[in-house]
Amino acid sequence: MRRAVCPGSFDPITNGHLDIISRASRLYDEVYVAVMINKAKKGLFEIDERIELIREVTAEYENVRIEAFHGLLVDYCKQRDIPAIVKGLRAVSDFDYELQMAQMNNGLSGVETLFVPTNPTYSFLSSSLVKEVATWGGDVAHLVPPVVLEALNKRLRKD
Ligand code: PNS
Repeated sequence: MRRAVCPGSFDPITNGHLDIISRASRLYDEVYVAVMINKAKKGLFEIDERIELIREVTAEYENVRIEAFHGLLVDYCKQRDIPAIVKGLRAVSDFDYELQMAQMNNGLSGVETLFVPTNPTYSFLSSSLVKEVATWGGDVAHLVPPVVLEALNKRLRKD
């Protein structure tokens, strides 16, 4: 069984994330989407809400599992016998930090990181920018799945 993990904060999941997850799901038998818990960073969405949104937008991919995890990504991989981390690379600006993490993770446990070039349509896209634009009333309908747009609008109107 070939397994891989797509890790991230997913606060919230965007079309860019979804593109990488769907491509990983075609390459591997089982793809884990790991929502990494960072207690130092309060998100817009609670972990359970992020998971539910991911679950809804990945429902069509039968080999995708979603979980929250607190700790080192290499430990998550070890516990589930996952040899590969799949990450999207948007631009050269992503490369420095992603390379550092990939090398650190490989040095810690031998886990490999596979970089997938982001679909150019989403090369500028991040959860942070989506939240900022949506906060000020900008249109992000083309950047996130409809259910995420609805959750964003609800959250931002309420808070
Ligand atoms: O979506 P993000 O916030 O860019 O994802 C970053 C994430 C969660 C993948 C990264 O911070 C991570 O792997 N965190 C888990 C803790 C860990 O293993 N840190 C060491 C990385 S070398």
